[in-house]
Amino acid sequence: MQRKRTRKAGVVTAMAAAFAFTAGAQAAEVQKVHEKGLKPYEIVDGVSIPKSLTGKAGDPKRGAKIVVKRKKGNCLACHKINQLSDYPFHGNIGPELTDVASYMKEGEMRLRLVNPKVLNPDTIMPAFYRVEGLHRVMKKYEGKPVLTDQEIEDVIAFMKTLKASQ
Ligand code: HEC
Repeated sequence: MQRKRTRKAGVVTAMAAAFAFTAGAQAAEVQKVHEKGLKPYEIVDGVSIPKSLTGKAGDPKRGAKIVVKRKKGNCLACHKINQLSDYPFHGNIGPELTDVASYMKEGEMRLRLVNPKVLNPDTIMPAFYRVEGLHRVMKKYEGKPVLTDQEIEDVIAFMKTLKASQ
């Protein structure tokens, strides 16, 4: 299901690139986003946030902790990750992430975490780095993203270690 969508996005990007080429334009399509209180970032070609939100790489060990924590990433509620099999109850609502580093680039992972609605408006995966356009939001969470910029980078650093062959 998801693979199909990813491929479709790839085709659209390729078509956009071909069109841009014929039109004589070289530059990728860049969308600048700056929500109040969050670091600004750029979405490139609607599929990727290539640059680190903190300007640095995150820490994979801290990332793993955030992934399992219920009140942080809680990723295991929806995703199976074999490398974290010490933790119980892996969900299957989303695709398994055991081999995610083999087929996803860092920038694609970043957009997926920051705001998955850009990729799939109907997704049930939460946006982890947004403060606008959210539905839940109890008073005490207002203006705060689920994960900080540093935590997003830590989770990405962890995901980059996820290869089935290791
Ligand atoms: C409420 C369920 C839910 C939670 C919680 C969740 N996700 Fe997802 N995730 C999904 C679904 C469903 C998809 C499939 C794509 C879609 O629906 O847009 C997905 C897709 C993904 C993908 C793309 C995988 C692929 O094969 O294309 C990645 C990477 C990902 N999630 C990482 C995470 C991480 C890391 C966390 C925790 C920080 C997380 N997700 C939390 C539901 C969830």
